[in-house]
Amino acid sequence: MGQPVNVGIVGCGAISAQYFQTIDRLPQLRLVAVADLDLDRARAAVRPYAGVDVLSVAEMMADPRVGVVLNLTIPAAHAEIALQAIAAGKDVYCEKPLAATAVEAAGMLRAADAAQVRVGCAPDTVLGTGTQTARKAIDDGLIGRPVAATATMMTPGHERWHPNPDFYYAPGGGPLLDMGPYYITSLVTLLGPVATVIGAASRTRAKRTIGSGSRQGEEIPVTVDTHVSGVLVHTSGALSTLVMSFDGTATKAPNIEVHGEAGSLVVPDPNYFEGSVLFSKGREDGWQTLPAAAGYVGAGRGVGLADFASTPAGEEPRTSGTLAYHVLDVMESLLTSAHSGAAANITSTCERPPPVDLTEPSQNIDSM
Ligand SMILES: NC(=O)c1ccc[n+]([C@@H]2O[C@H](COP(=O)([O-])OP(=O)(O)OC[C@H]3O[C@@H](n4cnc5c(N)ncnc54)[C@H](O)[C@@H]3O)[C@@H](O)[C@H]2O)c1
Repeated sequence: MGQPVNVGIVGCGAISAQYFQTIDRLPQLRLVAVADLDLDRARAAVRPYAGVDVLSVAEMMADPRVGVVLNLTIPAAHAEIALQAIAAGKDVYCEKPLAATAVEAAGMLRAADAAQVRVGCAPDTVLGTGTQTARKAIDDGLIGRPVAATATMMTPGHERWHPNPDFYYAPGGGPLLDMGPYYITSLVTLLGPVATVIGAASRTRAKRTIGSGSRQGEEIPVTVDTHVSGVLVHTSGALSTLVMSFDGTATKAPNIEVHGEAGSLVVPDPNYFEGSVLFSKGREDGWQTLPAAAGYVGAGRGVGLADFASTPAGEEPRTSGTLAYHVLDVMESLLTSAHSGAAANITSTCERPPPVDLTEPSQNIDSM
């Protein structure tokens, strides 16, 4: 294995701890610096990790040690930080969604092309054994020709547990842009890109109340739709039905089901790396659990960054900006369709990312 890639993290909020842990255990990555608008937060976040510098964003961009900027800011800041990294000649890997709008995301990809640097994006959970085992089952022909899928995410909203949930109810947030990337990236991984969408959306309340942390009880405005339903027409002809909601109380619907002419799969929660894939050939045969047969074993958030950093030059990373842009385009088009009442054609596309063999992350990602 070659030298580890030096990572600089911008944004040390709620999700950053999971990345710190993954980077710490993967020999392909080395965390050299962190930055945040709130430098105290950045200092506290890296306290357990020796030798990591706390910098301003400008200092991070100017730091020649940093090879890839890991952008863990809120969606509204994704493009601004990514463009700074690209202008500094650094690769950038963003948390999802790629940007708050497809226009911003397209600008990022154009700038990266011009600067000959790479853009990657979460979610990487779809590289875990859950989605990858389901994908292998489909690719191996277990369910025959896939014809349909359902995807359901139903919660009362993240303001119950997140101490600063404002961004979930602002442009770039909402159940679709926040949780849709997991589900739609999984559906594209399983069934391929999307050609057309039809959407419907609603918004139940104008305000939400923060349920935890120092701002508990504070009301925040809601400026996005909080229940989105839609149909994705995949290029293959398969139809996916999607429900993404911050307005439901609970659900027993499977996260994702995929139906083929010869069988059906229950696919585990795409917000996690692992989980059981169930397979049925018909009502009389019941459901059997498929053994984990593909994907990164025991993975954590950040494995997609390692996969990205170790993808040879000239090859499309599995967690590519192109895939994330297509997913964002699909989500935005669902909202466009919901507001216009007409189906929306998707102008972007992407390849299904290459499958992941069943491997330990630290073993497989070693080609840099
Ligand atoms: N919280 C989760 O469970 C979770 C899970 C998966 C993905 N994500 C994604 O991760 C990203 C961050 O989410 P979070 O929950 O950690 O948010 P957060 O609000 O807890 O943290 C974001 C951090 O970014 C900093 N920041 C914002 N704008 C900045 C800028 N311009 N320059 C420098 N720093 C800036 C903030 O000061 C804050 O510390 C989002 O894209 C979110 O969708 C979050």
